Amino acid sequence: MVQRACRLWNLSATCLIVLTAYNILLTLKFMYTPDCSKNIIQVQNPPEPPRNPCLNNIDVFEKGDFSVKLDLRLGRLDNTLKYKYFDNFWVGESYPELNERYTVCLATQSSLERLYSLVEVANHWSGPISASVFAAGDDELNLLLLYITYLRQCQSNVRNRVSFHLAIPKSRVPRSIDIDIEQISTMDCNRPEVTLKQMLKHVSSETTRWKGKNAYPQNHMRNLARKNCQTKFVYLTDVDIIPSYRQADELHRFLQKTDCRTKCAYVIPTYELDERVVFPSNKSDLLRLANKGLARPFHQKVFIFNQFATNFSKWENTINQGSDIHISHTVTNFEFLYEPFYVAMDDAPPHDERFVGYGYTRNTQVYEMFVAGYDFFVLSPIFTCHWGLSTKRSKPAWREQQNNENRKKFDNFKHEVFVKHGRDPLNMMLRKLG
Ligand SMILES: *[C@@H]1O[C@H](CO)[C@@H](O)[C@H](O)[C@H]1NC(C)=O
Ligand SMILES: *[C@@H]1O[C@H](CO)[C@@H](O)[C@H](O)[C@H]1NC(C)=O
Repeated sequence: MVQRACRLWNLSATCLIVLTAYNILLTLKFMYTPDCSKNIIQVQNPPEPPRNPCLNNIDVFEKGDFSVKLDLRLGRLDNTLKYKYFDNFWVGESYPELNERYTVCLATQSSLERLYSLVEVANHWSGPISASVFAAGDDELNLLLLYITYLRQCQSNVRNRVSFHLAIPKSRVPRSIDIDIEQISTMDCNRPEVTLKQMLKHVSSETTRWKGKNAYPQNHMRNLARKNCQTKFVYLTDVDIIPSYRQADELHRFLQKTDCRTKCAYVIPTYELDERVVFPSNKSDLLRLANKGLARPFHQKVFIFNQFATNFSKWENTINQGSDIHISHTVTNFEFLYEPFYVAMDDAPPHDERFVGYGYTRNTQVYEMFVAGYDFFVLSPIFTCHWGLSTKRSKPAWREQQNNENRKKFDNFKHEVFVKHGRDPLNMMLRKLG
């Protein structure tokens, strides 16, 4: 009709007005239609951000230095089909090369809450770091990506040395990613812990509730981190365990010449530190702090079995033997519930994933190593530290409950370990755990 009208010369003015109006309408329509073909990083942060209408699974974001490849439709499932893993979704710039240069890789895992510790770990450990991180849902994933981006921009050691692997509960895989990278310019590079505390306020109460009901899968996370190391030896820690300075190079040299071929585990003693001190620069510095009561064996006051078999008094006496790593002594009084941090080849038994949450997670793996015939050698003069002197507190009810759940599973586990290795050196078949 418009066209026919246009053919009439005397109506040309009307035609022009109609076409102009149509044009304006089209422009307006275009402006307010969401464009799903573009990435969906929101650049501004309006007070009440509208829900993004683009449910976009193909998330390859690029903006300046920022880019992450994370197709949430992919990933791989864990053996229980409960979690989805995304390996190496952010690769440290030097990570591949560091894996070739070093004989040992540090494997670590963290929930969002404790991720700030990674900064100190990466500043102390010059080798490759394989870090698995957990996100319980959309909000946590977005915060996690934002926080890691901030870490990678502010901390060159994190950017260079750390490769990140992600685990998300399968039932809670987000459909889209929506992060506001402009926010990073307002964050203080020198205060990673404070920055994280601020960000954690944005975790939804729904996610917090879900986490209250669903335990953190520590052992899944450990296996994920371990198996992404590319070196001959793996050194598994928790993210808040800080290695002494120069440890990566020293361990690298030590492990290159070690003559143990199989079933050796090298224990690195762990101390806890008073928050007020400076991180000890070497073993004698650590012992000076210990003499003043400002450092002590990890969990000594809370759960002495945790590290008891390491025999700290023996370790403390092997001083003045040079700064090269050497074996201080062999663990001779291995006992159940011992859970040292150690370096070993990664054909060591996996962390059993039926144990989730607190209790029986790390020590069951160490227990299986012992049954399988591993020897544990305590190394000196290197060590690790955990910030804060722990004191006996009443444990929260949820923690006690998780521990009880895991204790029930231990019975099956110990029988399987016995059948698998045909030995019962600690007489566990006859023991009942109270
Ligand atoms: C250990 O560290 C202390 C304090 O920094 C320093 O005075 C001392 O010389 C160091 N000892 C060795 C053997 O490096
Ligand atoms: C630790 O070593 C000391 C000195 O060698 C020894 O007397 C003590 O029995 C050991 N303690 C444990 C718990 O093994």
